[in-house]
Amino acid sequence: MMKKGYFITFEGGDGAGKSTQIKKLMEYLESKGFDVILTREPGGTDIGEKIRQIILDPENKEMDSVTEAMLYAASRAQHVSQVIKPAIEAGKIVICDRFIDSSIAYQGYGRNLGDSVSIINSYAVGEYMPHKTFLLKLKPQAGSLRMAGREKDRIELEAASFHQTVYDGYEALERKYPERIVGIDASGTIEEIADEIKKHIDVLLSE
Ligand code: TYD
Repeated sequence: MMKKGYFITFEGGDGAGKSTQIKKLMEYLESKGFDVILTREPGGTDIGEKIRQIILDPENKEMDSVTEAMLYAASRAQHVSQVIKPAIEAGKIVICDRFIDSSIAYQGYGRNLGDSVSIINSYAVGEYMPHKTFLLKLKPQAGSLRMAGREKDRIELEAASFHQTVYDGYEALERKYPERIVGIDASGTIEEIADEIKKHIDVLLSE
């Protein structure tokens, strides 16, 4: 049974500022004495990092969308069993940079694979769904401006219309799971966003 620790995920388009906020939340929780594990997807394990390289390599132009969805799910299955599950069982707080909602937004909506993505991922995730998910919302045009100058991976190189569909997918998820997913306007300042996240975390930890 999953009840001992907490599982928190961060989601959003590329360039929304997830890494900055994840770092700040980790510092906040550690300052309160919690045992925190920071991890990411795709990756988070040796096997997962190898899968990540295959998925994100810009040379893999011929990759089929179903292959892509299954590789993300495969990386996730390994991650859940090797890292997330044991940490939660040990009472730790796991913070993960992207999780199942990324697959639903990018592969389900962006690649138009629909519900099959949730089905594939239910095998990978089982009962280990996040307790709270912070969705950092930034319009794709603004995100791509922030990404300017950074080297882009195979997904980031997709057309603007793809990123808009992903954004719409995230908003649909936010409406579907209002208890779990907290949408946050990512155009605010770093401190404003961090404070909003802290408020939600304090509530979660006091429940
Ligand atoms: P990530 O390393 O988080 O990129 P960034 O740090 O730029 O946010 O993720 C790499 C890319 O993989 C990103 O463009 C989103 C995409 N992705 C999916 O398409 N499906 C998934 O299930 C996950 C986890 C990520």
